[in-house]
Amino acid sequence: MAGAGSGKTKTLTARAANIVDSLDVWPGNILCITFTNKAAREMKERIHAAVGPGAESMWIHTFHGMCVRILRSHGDALGYTRDFTIYDTSDSLRLIKRCLGALDMDEKYFPPKTMLDFISRAKNHYEKPAEFFRETEDYVRRRAYDVYALYEEEQRDANAMDFDNLLLKTIELLEKHEDVRLYYGNKFRYVMVDEYQDTNPAQYKLIRLLCSVHGNICVVGDDDQSIYGWRGADIRNILEFEQDFPGAATIRLEQNYRSYGNILNAANTVISHNLPVSYT
Ligand SMILES: Nc1ncnc2c1ncn2[C@@H]1O[C@H](COP(=O)(O)OP(=O)(O)OP(=O)(O)O)[C@@H](O)[C@H]1O
Ligand SMILES: [Mg+2]
Repeated sequence: MAGAGSGKTKTLTARAANIVDSLDVWPGNILCITFTNKAAREMKERIHAAVGPGAESMWIHTFHGMCVRILRSHGDALGYTRDFTIYDTSDSLRLIKRCLGALDMDEKYFPPKTMLDFISRAKNHYEKPAEFFRETEDYVRRRAYDVYALYEEEQRDANAMDFDNLLLKTIELLEKHEDVRLYYGNKFRYVMVDEYQDTNPAQYKLIRLLCSVHGNICVVGDDDQSIYGWRGADIRNILEFEQDFPGAATIRLEQNYRSYGNILNAANTVISHNLPVSYT
């Protein structure tokens, strides 16, 4: 746990390199998850520089990058072919519009972007996405359930997955197929996650599945820095880490290596006005 610029990413990177160097662990047994492609690239470069070409076999990916890789190898267990299509946001919106047309729902009252946001929220936030649509009085959201159901069916028929499904289908794969879960659980003896404060419930679940064999996980994060609340990040993940992973040790990095004191004082004054976190 540490504030901005205190060396969290650097610590994670150095730890990965050190595990290879000092413990003589095969890099393929290490999984590092970052939040952006840029961060994954940087981490790869730094680790390659530290341990040399052997680092190639280490998995350093974003959540989505990791899921694509797992699904391309094992997604056939769920009925997808290896060359399944990935829908980007514009593909998804096009499909939503087609679904609205098929369901005779007017885009004026059911804006495609809103429908997609509902669907994404349901998938990232809810154990059973259908509950998100049912537990409301809001007519538009309730009707969005039909769009959701058709949207999912159409994707499956097209051997395609949108960004959210990359995550959800990987979870489904690991939950339904014990052999696949054990394969990755045994392969990734060291799991590391950067920017842990930004994980949403679906990502959290995925991490737990990947760690279910060894329970060997190291995460870094900043409880004052969660920026993805709007896409379902759940700050509870970091605050309750010690309960979720009993025996975990928490280390605080107190020194800031990026900014001078006057900048930090200004930033801390701003943070001190944050509303207390409420979990209702
Ligand atoms: N122990 C250290 N000694 C010297 N410089 C360091 C040390 N740790 C980190 N740095 C430098 O401080 C800067 C910030 O480090 P890093 O990016 O790892 O921080 P961070 O906590 O991940 O930041 P953010 O919250 O923005 O993700 C980098 O330029 C890094 O090289
Ligand atoms: Mg960082």
